[in-house]
Parts: sequence; structure tokens; C-alpha cells
Amino acid sequence: MKLIKAVRGTRDLFGEDGQKYNYIVNAAHEQFENYGYTMIKTPIFEETDLFKRGIGEGTDVVEKEMYTFSDRGERSITLRPEGTASVVRCYLEHKIYAQEDVSRFYYSGSMFRYERPQAGRQREFNQIGVEVLGESSPILDAEVIAMGYNLLEKLGITDLSVTINSVGGKDSRVKYREMLLEFLNPIKEELCEDCKVRIEKNPLRVLDCKNDKCKDLTKDAPIILESLSEEEMNHYETVKKYLEIFGVRYVEDPKLVRGLDYYSSTVYEIITNKLGSQGTILGGGRYDNLLKQLGDKEIPAFGFAAGIERIMMLLGDNYPKTAPELYIAWLGENTRDFAFKIAQDLRTSGLKVIIDFNNRAMKAHMKKADKLGVNNVLIIGEDEMAKNVVVLKNFNDRTQEEITVEELKTKLI
Ligand code: HAM
Repeated sequence: MKLIKAVRGTRDLFGEDGQKYNYIVNAAHEQFENYGYTMIKTPIFEETDLFKRGIGEGTDVVEKEMYTFSDRGERSITLRPEGTASVVRCYLEHKIYAQEDVSRFYYSGSMFRYERPQAGRQREFNQIGVEVLGESSPILDAEVIAMGYNLLEKLGITDLSVTINSVGGKDSRVKYREMLLEFLNPIKEELCEDCKVRIEKNPLRVLDCKNDKCKDLTKDAPIILESLSEEEMNHYETVKKYLEIFGVRYVEDPKLVRGLDYYSSTVYEIITNKLGSQGTILGGGRYDNLLKQLGDKEIPAFGFAAGIERIMMLLGDNYPKTAPELYIAWLGENTRDFAFKIAQDLRTSGLKVIIDFNNRAMKAHMKKADKLGVNNVLIIGEDEMAKNVVVLKNFNDRTQEEITVEELKTKLI
């Protein structure tokens, strides 16, 4: 019989990977809550138009990578390729802007992009992310950048580089588009086929092309910073000033445009050189025009998302391992009920307890406890049961003592 395997580009997480995943997500949630963010959970699938309008028709994500299908009601549905558009949809749909000036949300979960799978790049992958809606201050940009950076540092990830740029607002973008077209049109025929289309649809995307020849041809392209208004330039300067105040070292990359169309003003990425070509761990920026585009509201916004699998690759062995705290070895059928009752009692009191379902010999129990990496073993034999006590054996200091369950609780909990 042919064994069915996980679909190409997807991955099962279990054992150590499961622990790493939980560790990262829990650390992130704690970090975000320290900054006043609350959890948001939006559906995994949405109407396709949300992503087309939100992310932009000319982007690789919308053009080539979406998992789009018709459901049984003949609606065009897309598995979310990212989280921002959904958060904005939810914010507009529930008129959250009418309830609070500034909203701070965090999320984590699966995203779907039909990309060529390789190490650090999957078709179903997981992100942790945040979105702040209703705040235009450049200090927010720096604060959010620092929050993500500090999280990665807390997780023990070093050698990170923060790359920032500003892609300006609508007006400066129009000005820049003209400058860029003047540069691109004469070299159009030499660019890749995708870029020929990008020139027509969204010339900025040419700067995000991964093709080496296109990269080389556009290395002297005009930079967007030159088109920024004074106000936009001031915003950018203040972001940099506050990054310094918050102790985040950064480099400026005037070519950084990001792969999604909704950005305006500040954009940034946090990159490692340890993961080869999939070195971008986290990316984000300001998207002050997206709420207008999706809901006709002038509301500024900023956010980022980080790839959990990429963080997992960098984490190595540097995460707390969760082993059970106590193994209960019961000896003889008569002790089973007594032992299981104690196990439940201790678990209710908060101890991580493992108890085997089979009547085993002492040696087999010890072998199992050792394999599980448990330091404390509770031995329950008929003699102990008759006296209403248990024997606690500690593998670390090789001690063994006879105590009551109540004494055991004060000792271990
Ligand atoms: P993004 O740059 O498309 O931004 O994705 C963010 C992160 O998700 C990447 O830096 C990377 O770590 C991870 N990632 C993306 N694609 C894959 C993949 N195929 N396999 C594994 N990991 C991947 C966004 O998604 C924006 N929504 C971020 C944002 C939030 N901007 C504003 N708010």
C-alpha cells in the first residue's frame, strides 16, 4: 500500500521541533503583551479580492503564489499568503477605529505561498506578526522595529542586521515612478520577461527582482529617497534617531522595496547571513494607504511579520526542553488504582507526571524513566500502598525516601 506523505512544501512539527515552535511563539506573545498588544485571530482563508487589492496585482505573491480555489458555493477563496490584509479587513469590518485611537494586535499561524520549496522556504509556513493601526508617529516605527529585534535577541539569535529604507508616500512615489521609468525604459529589452511586465504594471517591483542580470542592470537606478518630500524625509530621520535611542544598530539600503505593494514610508528587514538565500527572518514597515485602499479610511498603520521556521533554524539547541518532572512506577496489579489516583492528584496540583499503563518490572520502569529524562521516580509497591506512603527516588543525588503524598507535594511543587 502506498503511504501518503505530507504535501510538497509542507512540514510536520513534532518532538523537538514542536517544543521549539512553542517556545518561540510563547516568547513572542509575552514580548508583544509587554508592549500592550492583544491577540487577534483571523480566518485562514479569505475572499481572493482582499489579497488582490491589499497586496497588489503586480506582486509575485498575488501573480504566482496564491492558493486560490472556488469553494462549493463558487466563491473565489484564497488561503492567506500573509496576515496584514486580514487584520486590516477585520479592523475595518468591526469598526475598531471607532472604539479606540490606537489598536495593537499580534498573531501567529500558517501562511500559504506557492513558492519553490527549499531550506527555510515552504509552501505552508508560520509567521508571528504584529500590526498597529491608528498611529502615525515615527517613534512607533522605531519602537516596533526594536520590539522585534529585542525578541530575536532574547531568543539568543545573534549576528542580525537591520536594514531600513523609506519608500515614500503616494506623491513621492509618482515622482519616483517617472524617474525610474526614464532609467528602465532604455534597458527594458535586456531585463527578464517578468520585469518587462513589471515595468508596465509597477516599475518599483523591478528593483525587487531576484534575477542576477536584472539586479546588475538596475544597480545604478535612481533611489527613492531622492524623491521624498521634506515631511517624509523628517519622518525617516526621526525613525533613525529613535532606533539609535533604542540601541538598535541598522544599515540603510536605498534599494529595499519589499515584496508587497502596500508599503509607504518606512520599510525594513532583519536579516541573518546564516541561512543563505533565505536570510530574511523578519520584514515589515508602514502601510498608511492600505486602509484607504480597502476601506476608504485615512488611518496610518505599521507592522511586521517573522518566519517561525527560519527562527527555528537559527535557534539550534538553545531552547528549554520540557521533560516530565515525575515518573510513577507502580508494581503489581493491586497498586494500579492507587497509583493512578495519585498521578491525577499530583497533575491537578500542577506537576508534570508520566505514569505507564502497563504493569512492569522495576528495571523496565527505571529504563523508561531514564529515557524520558525524568529525575524523580515515584515507586509504589503493595507495602507502600498498605502504609499509604510512596517511595521517592532521585536520580540526580541518588537518594531514596519514604514519604506521604502530602509531603511529596510540598517537596516537589
Ligand atoms: P513578508 O516579508 O512577505 O512580509 O514575510 C515575512 C517573513 O515571513 C519573511 O521575512 C520570512 O521570514 C517569512 N516567510 C515568507 N515567506 C516564507 C516562506 N515561503 N517560507 C518560510 N518563511 C517565509 C509579510 O508577510 C508582511 N505581512 C509583514 C508585515 C506585517 N508588514 C506589515 N505588517
